[in-house]
Amino acid sequence: MRKQIAAANWKMNLNFQQADKLINEIMGADIKIKENQLTIFAVPYPYLSMSKGVVGDVQNYKVAAQNCYQKISGAYTGEVSVEMLHSMGIYYCIIGHSERREYFNESNATLAEKINLCLANEITPIFCCGEPLSVREAGKQDEYVGVQLKESLFHLSAEQIKNIIVAYEPIWAIGTGKTATTEQAQEMHQYLRSVLAVQYGNDIANEISILYGGSVKAGNAKEIFSCPDVDGGLVGGASLVAHDFIEIIKALK
Ligand code: 13P
Repeated sequence: MRKQIAAANWKMNLNFQQADKLINEIMGADIKIKENQLTIFAVPYPYLSMSKGVVGDVQNYKVAAQNCYQKISGAYTGEVSVEMLHSMGIYYCIIGHSERREYFNESNATLAEKINLCLANEITPIFCCGEPLSVREAGKQDEYVGVQLKESLFHLSAEQIKNIIVAYEPIWAIGTGKTATTEQAQEMHQYLRSVLAVQYGNDIANEISILYGGSVKAGNAKEIFSCPDVDGGLVGGASLVAHDFIEIIKALK
């Protein structure tokens, strides 16, 4: 049974004290997380250690990085390698967020390199895909997102792809307050699963968690997560408010 996941993406927000307070509040809340559910905190690099300390070994709660570099090690001032993450006990990493693609020119090919390094270092990539508004308006979203998957993931073996979490984040819904409708989300998630099924077979496609991201809030999470092919969410803004993110975790199937 595939995991239902509430993943917080703090992005470049919160100072250290605020981050410490937020994660302690969430971890201190009375949430009965089920066996098939997972909560992930994707925090800025400087907060990984603190977050890991707060989360500890609590079952089904994990800490993730928001990015990593595509080289093993070396003279890349300011970058962070997957080996560094692994050596700190960080086993999840967001790869290919639309903000990285847009502001840091990360291509599908670069993302494929990052994916390979993550998998070689026992780090589960949370691979983001999603189309801009112009593509959605032209009705070409399936094609666009299909290419993102193909160019960054489809070189992987069946064994490897099982260790990927996919996040569909339509760019027009990120931080805009404009959520995809449940129909739009389900349609795209079903399409993504069908593309994975063509490449890897139904059994494997059915095991891969596909998260929705883009203006998920406490008030709409339950409805979005109720779609059969939506396995939780990757949450930006609402993950910065303890009460809101707690409600989102509770909304998981
Ligand atoms: P918002 O939830 O703020 O729209 O951000 C979504 C996102 O980009 C998560 O990675």
